[in-house]
Amino acid sequence: MLYPPAYFTFFILSISWTASAPETVTGAKVRYHHHQNAPNLPKLFVFGDSYADTGNSPKSTAISWKKPYGVSFPGKPSGRFSDGRVLTDYIASFLGTSSPIPFNEWLGLGEKSALENGLNFAEGGTGVFTTLANGPNMTTQINVFQQLVQEEEVYSPENMSSSVALVSVAGNDYAAYFGKNGTNEESPVFTKSIMSQLVLDLQRIHGLGVRRVGVTAMHPLGCLPITTASISHKNCSENGNWLAKFHNQMLQENIENLNNEAGAPVFVILDLYSAFMSALNLQNNHPGNSTFEDQLSPCCVGTERGYTCGSVNGVGIEKYIVCEDLKQFFWDDIHPSQQGWEAVYSALKPSLQSLLN
Ligand SMILES: *[C@@H]1O[C@H](CO)[C@@H](O)[C@H](O)[C@H]1NC(C)=O
Ligand SMILES: *[C@@H]1O[C@H](CO)[C@@H](O)[C@H](O)[C@H]1NC(C)=O
Ligand SMILES: *[C@@H]1O[C@H](CO)[C@@H](O)[C@H](O)[C@H]1NC(C)=O
Ligand SMILES: *[C@@H]1O[C@H](CO)[C@@H](O)[C@H](O)[C@H]1NC(C)=O
Ligand SMILES: *[C@@H]1O[C@H](CO)[C@@H](O)[C@H](O)[C@H]1NC(C)=O
Repeated sequence: MLYPPAYFTFFILSISWTASAPETVTGAKVRYHHHQNAPNLPKLFVFGDSYADTGNSPKSTAISWKKPYGVSFPGKPSGRFSDGRVLTDYIASFLGTSSPIPFNEWLGLGEKSALENGLNFAEGGTGVFTTLANGPNMTTQINVFQQLVQEEEVYSPENMSSSVALVSVAGNDYAAYFGKNGTNEESPVFTKSIMSQLVLDLQRIHGLGVRRVGVTAMHPLGCLPITTASISHKNCSENGNWLAKFHNQMLQENIENLNNEAGAPVFVILDLYSAFMSALNLQNNHPGNSTFEDQLSPCCVGTERGYTCGSVNGVGIEKYIVCEDLKQFFWDDIHPSQQGWEAVYSALKPSLQSLLN
């Protein structure tokens, strides 16, 4: 059993949210399990936040649409909160499809043929509940999906027969909770309320015909650069990681119950906690000998107080610097780099097979 720490400070920057995206992007190495022209390729439906967003956040305000985001892939900002590919792109590649189109991009096209890889509803800053951000909470994201399936009949049951959902829950609910004066003592109660809502959300997604539903376990929040800044990124915060571990323990219990009820292994946990730790090669929160240099520091940072990665001052001067080889695990204060996600993907890969079984 885990107990809340006596004191615990934890902040997540609220990132920005909603709107359109013009890039069509393909995943990393595409591996086809089926013939390319088969009508019912595995489709990927994505719900959640910035760890999975590939272009739903608003172009006018989201940092993900500003330079130097996207510098490694696709070479310019694409609405991804990274220098390149994010979790969604790697999961799509594992399934042998291209990364699904962001819903807000599809709204501008309206082409049914653009939907054959699935759809991405994830938007930066959002949570299971409404957060400090303006984007659609998970209920609203699923409502839109439900309307497309049930009312507009965009996907037939046959189309959905080998579909997979990726549900990313990366902590914005907690940021909102602490931002509204939530306390450490009460946080387990809040975790339980997240779980109650998440269970309903996962059941709805499966109920709409999605065959396998992968949901992320909480990554080590105490290792995020935003959490470790006060100690110069030398160490993870045990208190921060405690919350993630408690969340994951609750998630594990709830997913077991859901699978027992379903009578099949429909719901799959994507263990980002272990995957981040293994990618960072952290042992007992101590930086070990990982392939990433200075592995708890972000690659892209503001040059002065008040500026962050992507900041430009009033006269158009860039107020950020980017690490030389783009090889840091973390891209900015909150998000892994493409190299980071690739290492996380390597660690996750053995468990991803359950999405296809
Ligand atoms: C759904 O299946 C039909 C018939 O197999 C196919 O023609 C269509 O392209 C599929 N739709 C999508 C969105 O994949
Ligand atoms: C999600 O957002 C909608 C629209 O703002 C709101 O009515 C609903 O209560 C929210 N649901 C949850 C679970 O927070
Ligand atoms: C949070 O607490 C501070 C100090 O106690 C108070 O000034 C503020 O109004 C509170 N905010 C909310 C949203 O309750
Ligand atoms: C790093 O964390 C470990 C355990 O979490 C602790 O024992 C150690 O003192 C910390 N080191 C620094 C430099 O904060
Ligand atoms: C560092 O790497 C060496 C060789 O790969 C390994 O034996 C050792 O256990 C590693 N140490 C840590 C702290 O990861």
